[in-house]
Amino acid sequence: DVQEFKSSFKLLISQGLRASTQIVGSAVSLYCISPSLATLASLVIPSIIAGGTVFGSVLRKLSRQAQAQLSTSTGIAYEAISNIRTTRAFGAETKEHEMFQNEVNKACELNIRLGIGIGVFQGLNNLVMNGIVLSTIALGGQFVSQQRLSAGDLMAFLVATQTIQRSLTQISVLIGQAIRGMSAGARIHEYQKLTSSIPLEQGIRIPFHSMLGQVQFSNVGFAYPTREQQMVLENFNFTIPCGKTVALVGPSGSGKSTLCSLLVRFYDPINGQITIDGKDIRKFNATWLRSNVIGMINQEPTLFSTTIMENIRFGKPDATDAEVMEAAKLAMAHDFIQLFPDGYRTVVGERGVTVSGGQRQRIAM
Ligand SMILES: Nc1ncnc2c1ncn2[C@@H]1O[C@H](COP(=O)(O)OP(=O)(O)O)[C@@H](O)[C@H]1O
Ligand SMILES: [Mg+2]
Repeated sequence: DVQEFKSSFKLLISQGLRASTQIVGSAVSLYCISPSLATLASLVIPSIIAGGTVFGSVLRKLSRQAQAQLSTSTGIAYEAISNIRTTRAFGAETKEHEMFQNEVNKACELNIRLGIGIGVFQGLNNLVMNGIVLSTIALGGQFVSQQRLSAGDLMAFLVATQTIQRSLTQISVLIGQAIRGMSAGARIHEYQKLTSSIPLEQGIRIPFHSMLGQVQFSNVGFAYPTREQQMVLENFNFTIPCGKTVALVGPSGSGKSTLCSLLVRFYDPINGQITIDGKDIRKFNATWLRSNVIGMINQEPTLFSTTIMENIRFGKPDATDAEVMEAAKLAMAHDFIQLFPDGYRTVVGERGVTVSGGQRQRIAM
């Protein structure tokens, strides 16, 4: 979208500017040559432009649909290919292929309609423009024979109308480009408008060594923003006294992981409050809370495409190699890491060697 927007913008500025100045300049000279002919032209041309604008808005809508459909189909291909093992394991190649084919066909149909629309638009445009030249010659010829216009002026008038015609044709092509550019721009703008609902930089910190670590949930109510009608927690109260180790046990989907997400403020509760040492966690600096107070290991941890050493250092960038190894020993990762031919320098993650699910969790710890 950014690329599309950029090239449309460039074209519009360079060619659009030239075409529109040519139109203005030629229109002025038309008036100087023959006001009556020019008045006629000025009545016809605006109505053509109005027609073009209406047609253009229909095309713009179609273009937006076609773009959206195209990204749906690429999404399916991306999913099937990036999860190729699952696709293979279920023998789902044909099914995925058909699904992709289906979506591509829809995109194809929309793009054909768009192509036909743009073709009709440009064809009509040419027809009208050439019609203008023909009627100028016919009408102007009459004026010449009545000696209201010299032959030279008629020629000059024709050249000026042709310049206008050429510029208008160019503009009609540019309108197609502008339509695509504007729908790309609208999508970019949607992302730019997004703001973080939980600011990262503001808020207080508890001074080092004076935190006790008493966690309390009081009357907490929460529903995920994407599923507002399902309350995951309602009037939830619970306390973790400082220094205690607590495990939460419950059926799948009962809200255990949600509690952790609330504690690190991936979300804020809808009702009630969560406090640490009696202070509402909404008052804390979110970055400090996440990086200094709460350590969190996801159920499905992600490793970055770099060495194991750097992955472990992710939580404390200034840790020495010895500290990293010490941490690995505590997480019972040191032994298997040493067995890798490259040891701690093994590159893991998406673009490196994959490790087992359990090994990944230990590296994350
Ligand atoms: N990102 C999410 N968006 C919407 N609903 C979610 C999301 N994550 C979890 N849920 C729902 O919230 C409920 C609690 O989920 P969770 O806390 O992950 O359960 P668990 O106790 O198994 O960790 C479930 O019903 C789940 O479907
Ligand atoms: Mg869970």
